[in-house]
Amino acid sequence: MRCLVVSDLHYALPQLDWLLNSAPNFDLVIFAGDALDVGSLVDFSAQTLVVRKYLQRIAAATRLIFCSGNHDMDCQSEAGEKIARWVEGVRSLGVACDGDAIVLDNTLYSVLPWWDGPVVRERLLAQLKADSQRRQGLRWVWIHHAPPRFSPTSWSGKQSFGDADLVDWIGRYAPDAVISGHIHQSPFVQEGSWADRIGSTWVFNSGRQYGAPPAFIAFDTIAGEALWVSAMGAQSVRLDAPLHRPIPPLRALPDWFEPQPPMAG
Ligand SMILES: [Fe+2]
Repeated sequence: MRCLVVSDLHYALPQLDWLLNSAPNFDLVIFAGDALDVGSLVDFSAQTLVVRKYLQRIAAATRLIFCSGNHDMDCQSEAGEKIARWVEGVRSLGVACDGDAIVLDNTLYSVLPWWDGPVVRERLLAQLKADSQRRQGLRWVWIHHAPPRFSPTSWSGKQSFGDADLVDWIGRYAPDAVISGHIHQSPFVQEGSWADRIGSTWVFNSGRQYGAPPAFIAFDTIAGEALWVSAMGAQSVRLDAPLHRPIPPLRALPDWFEPQPPMAG
């Protein structure tokens, strides 16, 4: 199975176009949060309408998972916590989103919401507990916008902006992989990275760059490899081997990465 991972497109329409065009080349697309941008000049409700249409078209082309990020919060709950209510409407389009857990290719994917307070956090913890009962005999992958603290995947170049609670949850449940975003610069700065390992758990953050294509990660479960492609070049890791950093640049893209999504001209 081949999977494409992006995050933090922040209402960049050329990047959303690239994602839509690339989606049919993959069995699964994972969008790890921040589809919208709170700083955009475009009205927030207009952004949700446009992004919803993109997600609908991507979901018509392949399987799509989307988790909310901090830029995707469009209202406050009764408890006063920021929530992404528009994402509830995305679920009806056939997109696996916040609170969902789906099994594909012997892998259980838990889609976790951005949490802003104790109510959503407790819901997330209940989801992890429930999903942990289903993981037997499966790989277990979490989609969670914030990466773990003190990981190269959450390193800004000056400090770690990762999620400390997520570190505890990874320690408790040891999922096979956590797919994140949020800290845009981590893969591009010294001591940062797009890939990390915490115990047996792989952690990924594709990072954010401007223009199309976005920085992205592609997985091939048969090849057992994860590939990161950005304007800085490409790197890959074998998922069945220990991680050694720094990860050396690739001289050529792997054979399994065909057909290739359109690259920047
Ligand atoms: Fe972001």
